[in-house]
Amino acid sequence: GKKLLVDVDCGVDDAQAIMLALAAPNVNLLGITCVHGNTSVENVCKNTLRVLQVCGKLEIPVFKGASLPILGKRIDAGVFHGLDGLGDVPDPNAPGLDLVQKEDAVSAIIRIVNENPGEVSLVATAPLTNLALAVRMDPSLPSKLRGLYIMGGNTESRGNTTVCGEFNFSADPEAAYIVLNDYQCPTYLACWEFTCYSKLSWEFCDTWLAQDSKKARFMEQIFQHSIKMSKSQLFEKEFVDGSGFISCDSYAMAAAIDDGFIVKSDCYPVSVELAGTHTRGMMVMDTVGFLKKTHKAFIMRKVDMEMFKQMMMAALK
Ligand code: BDR
Ligand code: CA
Repeated sequence: GKKLLVDVDCGVDDAQAIMLALAAPNVNLLGITCVHGNTSVENVCKNTLRVLQVCGKLEIPVFKGASLPILGKRIDAGVFHGLDGLGDVPDPNAPGLDLVQKEDAVSAIIRIVNENPGEVSLVATAPLTNLALAVRMDPSLPSKLRGLYIMGGNTESRGNTTVCGEFNFSADPEAAYIVLNDYQCPTYLACWEFTCYSKLSWEFCDTWLAQDSKKARFMEQIFQHSIKMSKSQLFEKEFVDGSGFISCDSYAMAAAIDDGFIVKSDCYPVSVELAGTHTRGMMVMDTVGFLKKTHKAFIMRKVDMEMFKQMMMAALK
């Protein structure tokens, strides 16, 4: 099967992405590394273990990574995901943090990729702190990856965290900069605007959650808070119009699971603005070649939504 290593800040859509991978028949999930982001890294570890428990996959190793960005203060997305990252639904049976591996996330990424040279697809659905630290420790890491799939960045400077910044890049701009510049491997980006244009209708969500399974009951619970927030018109109207749910992280995961998922993509060098009065954290797409960079990333534009819905359905079966 396809070997995946996943780096998360386990909020609601990260949980959905993890469940996609666990349900995919051809996937071998080698581990899940955790990083600060939607909530504290401790909560992220807890949430990840909860997801694995519901899916009966607690044997998959979970690693704790960076608790802070490389520079600056930590931000979170408690408003959208709930303060605990998973909709603030208490779970008395949640596995304890003693199940988290002793090895740290950055060491684990380096070790696992080096044990499987050329075979691992790295899926990052969170601030890129762990990935940035990993490439600083082992600069040969990108050359040993099969591919890198990232949910993050933006293509139209429509921010969801700052005026121009998407959350994962804004939460650690330096890390995003390092990753986009130093991971010279096949790189696929599910950017914020693309995920907004590819949302799932509430009708689909109802059918999805109506499945008769423990996983569906779990999802229904943790999902309520973000459903409410999604319908509350946080963003610009014709864009994030509240007409459906945007499972951002699931698009990066689906692309890693099935090579046929991406139907159309643009291919440009990309970077991240680190200064700027309004633009720190904004992704920069070099459509002309000013940056003189040879490495280009695939920026998802159109995906197979039927395939996506099938994967999502299977995730809660
Ligand atoms: C990203 O930010 C997080 O809140 C989501 O989990 C996703 O990874 C969307 O901008
Ligand atoms: Ca995430």
